[in-house]
Amino acid sequence: MPTVTFRGESVTCDRGDVLRDVLLAAGLSPHNGAADGVNCRGRGSCGTCAVAVTGAVSDPSRRERLRLRVPPHDAENGLRLACQTRVLGDVAVTKYPGFWGQHVNDAPVGAGDGEPVGTSDRDSVGVGDAEPVGGDDETTASDDDVA
Ligand code: FES
Repeated sequence: MPTVTFRGESVTCDRGDVLRDVLLAAGLSPHNGAADGVNCRGRGSCGTCAVAVTGAVSDPSRRERLRLRVPPHDAENGLRLACQTRVLGDVAVTKYPGFWGQHVNDAPVGAGDGEPVGTSDRDSVGVGDAEPVGGDDETTASDDDVA
């Protein structure tokens, strides 16, 4: 069984499980601050579940690639959407500060506190900022995404 390590904790899951689901089931949110309650619930549209992942995971879907090109994300940052990423082996997950977890040049969110280290953009974020941006029916990682 693959092991997912995040914020100083390790959990096991089945190969092919969706990373966001694995983390939430373990009480480990991939969202920062208010994004924990204001997100698209795994539809791949809000971008707030973005994390850095090392290890064996599925390739990014079209939806995921599109979302990660929309600011404040930057496709060059190499982040993944936890809701669109399937765990294929042992992985290590890192969450960066910011409503979307987009501040990859800042120190990662600390283990156990669940709060972003930097809060520079959190106060200006409204519910409308987390609305879906895509229009197709691809809502979560599919079995086709498993290699
Ligand atoms: S929860 Fe919205 S993109 Fe993953």
